[in-house]
Amino acid sequence: MQKKVVCVVGLGYIGLPTAALLASTGFEVIGVDLNAHAVETINQGRIHIVEPDLDAYVRSAVTAGRLKAYARPQAADIYMICVPTPFHAGEGIPQPNIDYVLTATASIAGLVKPGDLVILESTSPVGTTRKMSDVLSEAGVDMSQVHVAYCPERVLPGKIMTELVENDRVVGGLTPEATTAVSAFYKTFVRGAVLETDAATAEMCKLTENSYRDVNIAFANELSLLCAKSGINVWRLIELANRHPRVNILQPGTGVGGHCIAVDPWFIVASDPDNARIIRTAREVNNYKTEWVIDQIKIAVANASAATGRKPKVACLGLAFKPDIDDLRESPAVHVAGALVAQGYDVVAVEPNITSHDKFALVTLEEALRTADVVAILVKHRQFIQAANSGELKGGAVLDFCGVRE
Ligand SMILES: NC(=O)c1ccc[n+]([C@@H]2O[C@H](COP(=O)([O-])OP(=O)(O)OC[C@H]3O[C@@H](n4cnc5c(N)ncnc54)[C@H](O)[C@@H]3O)[C@@H](O)[C@H]2O)c1
Repeated sequence: MQKKVVCVVGLGYIGLPTAALLASTGFEVIGVDLNAHAVETINQGRIHIVEPDLDAYVRSAVTAGRLKAYARPQAADIYMICVPTPFHAGEGIPQPNIDYVLTATASIAGLVKPGDLVILESTSPVGTTRKMSDVLSEAGVDMSQVHVAYCPERVLPGKIMTELVENDRVVGGLTPEATTAVSAFYKTFVRGAVLETDAATAEMCKLTENSYRDVNIAFANELSLLCAKSGINVWRLIELANRHPRVNILQPGTGVGGHCIAVDPWFIVASDPDNARIIRTAREVNNYKTEWVIDQIKIAVANASAATGRKPKVACLGLAFKPDIDDLRESPAVHVAGALVAQGYDVVAVEPNITSHDKFALVTLEEALRTADVVAILVKHRQFIQAANSGELKGGAVLDFCGVRE
C-alpha cells in the first residue's frame, strides 16, 4: 500500500503509541488531542504519559517531521479514533458513554472524502461503528465510498510498542470492502495475523475478551471468600487444583481494576441484562470482593484497638490497579484506602510506583511496617514479594489479600 496520511484522534495510551509507530513505518501522521498540554509536549518530541520506549519513538517521529500534533483534525486519507469510552456511573447497571467517539467522529466529518478509511479503535458497545457511520452520513458525507471499520486494541500497558506490532488483530468493516481495505492498512505495520470479520463481531470480540478475564478472576475471588470462611488456604487450593491437566484457575486479589476489565463487561450487560447473567454476576463478585477486603481490615483494626487501647494505624500496601505499574485508574486498592480514610481510619499507603498522592499519606515500606498496627497487602508489587521473602511481612496483623506471602 502506498504510504498515506493518517490522522489519529486521541493521543492517550492507545493513540500516541499508534501514531508514533505508524510514523516510524513511514506514514505521515497527524495527531489530534483536545488536551493542549499533550499537543504541546508531543510537538516538542516528548511524551505526557508513561510507557516504555514510547519517548524514543515520538522523539524520532517528530524530529523526522512525520508526526505533528494539533488541537483539531487535519485532512488525511485514514482516520483512527482512539478516544475514551467510559461508562455513566449512577444507579443500576452502568451505561456505556460513547459521547467521546461520536464527538470525535463529528470533528472529522468535514474532512472525510471518497476512498478514505475511518477506523474505530476505542473499546465500544456493539453498534458503535454503525453509529459513527450515521454521524458522518448525517453531516453530509457520501458514505458509499468511505470505508468504516472497527479494530479493537489489545495491548498490555508496559509492552505497548511491542504488542502493537506483534499481537493478532481483528478487523471488522461495515461492508466487506471496508474490511478488506482496513485489513490491508493494518497488514502494513502488524506482524501478527490480521483476522477479518464484520463490525459487530469485532466489537463483541473485544468485550468478550475482557469479560472472559473478569469472569475467570471472579471465580478465583469467589473461591477466596469460600476458603476464608472454611479456614482453607486458597493459594494452596488453587495450586493443587491447577495440577489437574484441564484446570487453570487464576489468582484472587483485592478486586478487579483498571479502565478495561472493570468497565467493558458492563457494555455487554447494559445491552442485554436478561441474558448477560454470568458476566453481570462476575462484575458483582469482583466488586464485592473489594468491599469484603474493607470489612476484613475493619475487623483487624477493631481487634488491634481492643488489644492496644488506642486508635490503630492501617498501612495499605499498594494503590495501583495491578502489580508493578503506576496506573491507579479504577483501582480496587485506591477504593479500599479511600473508604477507610472516609470512615475516619488512620491510614498510610505504600506505593513504590508513584511519588505523591493528593489523598493518601505515602510512606516507605519500612516506615509502614514499623508504625502500623494493621498491614493490608492490596497489590502484589515485587517490592512486597521481596519483603515477604526476607521475612518482613510476618504476623497476624498482616492481611495478605493477594498471595504475596505464599
Ligand atoms: N490503555 C489501554 O491499555 C487500552 C487497551 C485496549 C483498549 N483501550 C481502549 O482505547 C480507548 C482509548 O483509551 P486510552 O487509554 O488511550 O485513553 P486515554 O484517556 O489515555 O486517551 C484518550 C485521549 O483522547 C483525547 N480525546 C477525547 N476526546 C477527544 C476528541 N474529541 N478529539 C481529540 N482528542 C480527544 C483525550 O484528551 C485523551 O488524551 C478506550 O476505549 C480504551 O478502553 C485502552
